[in-house]
Amino acid sequence: MKLYQRILGHPFVYDRVRPLVVGGIDWSPLYRNLDVGPSDVILDVGCGTGVALQYLTGFGAYHGFDTDESAIESARKKTSALNVNYECRLVTPADIKRIAPTRIVLAGLLHHLTDDECLALLQMCAKAISVRRIATSDPVHLPRRYLSNLLTLLDRGKFVRKREQYLDLPRRAGLRVVREELVRSHPRSGIAMYLMMTLAPPTNPLVG
Ligand SMILES: C[S@@+](CC[C@H](N)C(=O)[O-])C[C@H]1O[C@@H](n2cnc3c(N)ncnc32)[C@H](O)[C@@H]1O
Repeated sequence: MKLYQRILGHPFVYDRVRPLVVGGIDWSPLYRNLDVGPSDVILDVGCGTGVALQYLTGFGAYHGFDTDESAIESARKKTSALNVNYECRLVTPADIKRIAPTRIVLAGLLHHLTDDECLALLQMCAKAISVRRIATSDPVHLPRRYLSNLLTLLDRGKFVRKREQYLDLPRRAGLRVVREELVRSHPRSGIAMYLMMTLAPPTNPLVG
């Protein structure tokens, strides 16, 4: 891993410095889109340092996967809850079958993956009959948003896309885009723009 990537991925830099650079972070809209209830089983792919648990309460079980060892180590230190499990590796179809998630979080993940990697992951999610809803959030290239676009150059993810390019991915993977919105990293002070998508399998109406 390059030195720059390691510095940006360091849990202290990620949790404390990055919010200052983008003018504050508030992921409430993303987790509202997930619409979690007490019986839900959550799969968080690219869970990072455990940010999701700052927003999610009252779920059945939570499973976070990330390929970055220091992020997983930091996430594990933040909780001792018995219904929370972190794994430092890629998620597989066998994991999805075993976990049977009802809600999937892809927060800041798609812009780390090539189109083919995104499609493989989204198709894996689309095939899981347990899944009711998937919530994504990624930095996005937008016309005339010069500062936000400039910030994407500093991002560790190499595949920041335009809005239409993100929207194309779930459609190609056989998922429905039931909601999409452009959101500032923080409602009052955020300067970085994100595209949040709420996705559902075609056969599961968006209820419950
Ligand atoms: C921008 S961070 C988002 C972290 C967290 N979800 C959040 O909202 O703060 C992206 C994370 O995805 C992880 N990642 C990248 N590719 C991955 C993959 N193929 N599978 C799992 N995690 C991956 C990175 O290690 C990094 O922690």
